[in-house]
Amino acid sequence: MPLLEIQNLATTFPTEAGLAKAVDDVSFKIDKGKVLGIVGESGCGKSITSLSILRLVPPPGRIASGSIKLEGQNLLDLKESQMQSIRGNRIALIPQDPMTSLNPVYTIGDQIMEAIELHQKVSKQEARKRAIEVLERVRIPEAKSRIDEYPHQFSGGMRQRVMIAMALSCEPELLIADEPTTALDVTVQAQILDLMRSIQKEQDMSILLITHDLGVVAEMCDHVAVMYAGAVVEYANVQDLFAHPRMPYTIGLMHSLPRPGGERLTPIEGQPPSLVNLPRGCRFADRCPLVEPRCREAVPPLEEKRPGHFARCVVVASEMENPARA
Ligand SMILES: Nc1ncnc2c1ncn2[C@@H]1O[C@H](COP(=O)(O)OP(=O)(O)O)[C@@H](O)[C@H]1O
Ligand SMILES: [Mg+2]
Repeated sequence: MPLLEIQNLATTFPTEAGLAKAVDDVSFKIDKGKVLGIVGESGCGKSITSLSILRLVPPPGRIASGSIKLEGQNLLDLKESQMQSIRGNRIALIPQDPMTSLNPVYTIGDQIMEAIELHQKVSKQEARKRAIEVLERVRIPEAKSRIDEYPHQFSGGMRQRVMIAMALSCEPELLIADEPTTALDVTVQAQILDLMRSIQKEQDMSILLITHDLGVVAEMCDHVAVMYAGAVVEYANVQDLFAHPRMPYTIGLMHSLPRPGGERLTPIEGQPPSLVNLPRGCRFADRCPLVEPRCREAVPPLEEKRPGHFARCVVVASEMENPARA
């Protein structure tokens, strides 16, 4: 059984212009001890997907349909009190903007200890000991003394380590990291990703890693879900995705990746459709170099193109149906 399995998730926001389908028909799963990347342009629904998993969608947004199963149990059926014992405990979130998530008036130690005491029945002394351990685990030098410092005394990279420490403090089974390195410079970014990967291996934890950067996906992930305009448009293991991308949007993202050698980048022209007024057919049709009239007739299903490799495209053929094109 997968650790987390999402089926046909839809999350909507009422707006003056109509109902915005921020997440629409999202399905994927994460196995124990694996890293799933969610990749896609800004505004495609990555953060709202992660907030839906924790049932923290900001009102008036709401989960309209679907299921989110943690080891077979649908989180959407739980009472809020049951959900509270899952958040931060079995599923931890490193939010998209961690710099503003640390409270400037409390010490780093107080904030980590608060997280530990919330979920585990331990004494203050034991919570402090665990907080120091977890700061050491994220390689914060002199954790024993730095635990009593305030967030402003830490650099951006060190604050991000603190956020990871806080997320790890209750040994979650699933860590959701929403663009955890976007605000950091390239060197610190690499250090943080290395750190996350080594901790993930040490603890056999699963990670849902949200990023708009395919380079990060290639480095970190076992599987990838590519999102476009609220929907998963491709899902595969990482080697397969890079070797045989099956969705023109994914191919476009790959061509817009910076390359060593300074080759010119080709960004994807145009804009995604309005989430209030989605087209009848493929959402990528207006930007797609391979578009055909049939693409505009109906939303393409997420179809298995190769074993374990799914894509929403009626033009790029399936090797399973059509071995001649393999
Ligand atoms: N608080 C909100 N109110 C209304 N619409 C929202 C709100 N938050 C997000 N959305 C809508 O949901 C879409 C997806 O947002 P988000 O998941 O944050 O994108 P991403 O993380 O991929 O950049 C946005 O394009 C926006 O239209
Ligand atoms: Mg986001």
